[in-house]
Amino acid sequence: MHVDLVLRGAEVHDGTGAPPVVGDVAVRGDRIVAVGGAPVAAARTVDARGLAVAPGFIDVHSHDDFAVLLDPQMPEKVLQGVTTEIVGNCGLGAAPFREARASAAMLHPGRTLPAWEGYAGYLAALDRDPPSLNVAALVGHGALRLAVLGTAPEPPGDAALDRMRALLREGLEAGAVGYSTGLIYDPGRHARTEELVALAREMRGTGAVYATHMRDESRGLLDSIRETLRVAEEGEVPVQVSHHKAAGRGAWGLVKDSLRLLEEARARGLDVAADQYPYTSASTMLGAVSQNGWLAGAPGGGGARMLESTHVRIASSAVRPEWDGRTLQEIDASASAHDVAQQVLAIDPAVWVVVEMMCEEDVRAVLRHPTTLIGSDGLPTAGKPHPRLAGTFPRVLGHYARDEGVLTLPEAVHRMTGASATRFGLRDRGFVRAGAYADLVVFDPARILDRATTSDPRRPPDGIAHVFVNGVEVARDGVHTGARPGRALRRA
Ligand code: ZN
Ligand code: CU
Repeated sequence: MHVDLVLRGAEVHDGTGAPPVVGDVAVRGDRIVAVGGAPVAAARTVDARGLAVAPGFIDVHSHDDFAVLLDPQMPEKVLQGVTTEIVGNCGLGAAPFREARASAAMLHPGRTLPAWEGYAGYLAALDRDPPSLNVAALVGHGALRLAVLGTAPEPPGDAALDRMRALLREGLEAGAVGYSTGLIYDPGRHARTEELVALAREMRGTGAVYATHMRDESRGLLDSIRETLRVAEEGEVPVQVSHHKAAGRGAWGLVKDSLRLLEEARARGLDVAADQYPYTSASTMLGAVSQNGWLAGAPGGGGARMLESTHVRIASSAVRPEWDGRTLQEIDASASAHDVAQQVLAIDPAVWVVVEMMCEEDVRAVLRHPTTLIGSDGLPTAGKPHPRLAGTFPRVLGHYARDEGVLTLPEAVHRMTGASATRFGLRDRGFVRAGAYADLVVFDPARILDRATTSDPRRPPDGIAHVFVNGVEVARDGVHTGARPGRALRRA
């Protein structure tokens, strides 16, 4: 047999969670054609002895909807071994275009996007101008609610609901893998449970997933989980709890109960899972932090003041880039966190922040749990974004699996590859086996580690030797090859 590439003598993690087996992986074109030991003649052989080979990592929670078109090499993702990402999370989304352009302007101020129509047009734009990795999309509820109802807080009437359903259907027919909500953000926070159920029911029987940034991840976490499970039950769809966490000191420890609720739901037959980024700090817009009362104790989201001015660090301000990397305390030590935030928002309403608000024990409890997949929630802004953007996957493998023993290496690989592909219906991805697409990562299990930090947030990780997407090498020893073999993935 003649093949294009053989990875020779590696510890092969197949993505199922099984212990690795030493062998060769042979690739022809964009597919894996053999796994094992049969000798083959290859155009290129990579000596992978002492290294691990795994399926390319799948980032199930990404906000790169626009980055994949604006900066298609996607170095922060590719250099950490991500070969596929799912965009459209937290209710943001790539269509309708007018509403999508508003979120793009917040993430990428000053950048210009080519126009597209609907999710069909978005995915076609990726076909024409492909990035370095594969992209699957969720339909964002916030964008479609904004398109139909504007910023109105009222529930949709029948006609409006029909228009929202039609927009969702367009996305699903174009190949979207589900729909997402962001229930702390405008306008998603105005949606009542009935609206979420009505839209979820549009996906019944398709396998498409409902992914949700829940209404309250703080002291109301358990009520939020119950609402999410109700959407799963009444909508009859699989659900994905986004970035599972307990936010704010008053909520720490609640993940024990939220994990138990997910387990019980599974036991009664609901298809529920979650995702997580492996850090104790979160990241979002300062406007949302303020609106949800996390700084002042106003009603909403947290329901009580849970942050001091040292806990909130500006990640990115297009108006005042000199703020990037500074805490609210460092901007004005004499005023309260709430007052500094109001001053900042008056100057730049679209500021992104990194917020210290989880505890290490909870992060570990969620990571250990079998319902948790890995998703970066990376925000591809300028300035000093949360280091999860460039560090998530090597941090789970190196820090949490190898160094801290929170989960085994095969299990960690499984929850960023095979389990993720199965959950989102990404056919022939997420596994190392004959016939699967050749999305592959070769890494050194002894060296792999995240290097991205608060002050140096884009620093690539250590220990990633090769990354292949659809059989084409996109990174080698921490350097991008420039290749852009990614594809727009569509649900069959
Ligand atoms: Zn979110
Ligand atoms: Cu998100």
